[in-house]
Amino acid sequence: MKRVPLGLGVLRPLLLGMLLGALAATWWLATRAERQQQQQRLAQTTNWPPREFNSGCNWHYLRVDASGWSTGPIGTFQDLGSRFRHLLPAATEVVIPIFPSVYAPSMIDKLYYNAILQSEIAPGDKVLVIGTGSGADAWVASLKSKAPVYAVEINPMATVNAQTTARLAQFDLRIVVGDIRETELPADFSDFDFVLWNMPYLDNQGKIALNTFHDGDDGSILKGFLARLPALLKPTGRAMLLNVPEAAAYIATPGVTTQTDGTIVLFTIPRP
Ligand SMILES: C[S@@+](CC[C@H](N)C(=O)[O-])C[C@H]1O[C@@H](n2cnc3c(N)ncnc32)[C@H](O)[C@@H]1O
Repeated sequence: MKRVPLGLGVLRPLLLGMLLGALAATWWLATRAERQQQQQRLAQTTNWPPREFNSGCNWHYLRVDASGWSTGPIGTFQDLGSRFRHLLPAATEVVIPIFPSVYAPSMIDKLYYNAILQSEIAPGDKVLVIGTGSGADAWVASLKSKAPVYAVEINPMATVNAQTTARLAQFDLRIVVGDIRETELPADFSDFDFVLWNMPYLDNQGKIALNTFHDGDDGSILKGFLARLPALLKPTGRAMLLNVPEAAAYIATPGVTTQTDGTIVLFTIPRP
């Protein structure tokens, strides 16, 4: 039998492949740090595309009882099963999914959620929630207004998340996907009694970065929103915004009142 020599003819493509693979790996490693820095800069200065945290899908419970609003993640599928089996009456607890890229409500936001519960939102009031994320705040607003809740959200994934929450919690949500600074809104997105926004104020690790204003790179989100506010509110209407104390520098409207938990601030703003 004739032997086939394993010479350079066979080895050459193999060596070339290994060389190209080594070059690609070197390039990827050399540029990784720069790519990560770019992503961090983008997340810190725009809020869109979404920050990298919460890239998976999770379940959270939302609860309203005598001690106020609370939330938390559902740890295991067993917990999920028992939550669904022992649900309190529908109006006081819901279990909702948090879709990838969507902000998961946490106890950091307690001031905002309890302020909605204690607000003067009355049955029949027209409420607009900006950046409703998973729809958690739209749900709490619906418990107060017992009427359709309106929303504008920049992250398309979050609009679907909020619609799912509305379906699970059985309230009527009319949501538009878009940037509140510029998106064209349907004619009935006007004459609101209340406009609510738990504004972007976390850094790209999902933490409160004290003394840092995470709103565009120049307060452009807050400024753009405030410019639009008069056209959204009824003459007697009010906006309730949660943000870091540094946001105060951008809110010049007379009659603003504040509440704080020592870290973040809830601004109540009459129609400018
Ligand atoms: C801190 S999260 C609050 C989410 C939700 N309201 C909650 O309490 O869990 C801010 C939300 O605002 C949305 N957002 C950021 N900039 C926006 C803009 N310019 N227009 C509309 N929504 C925006 C984000 O996608 C995000 O869902």
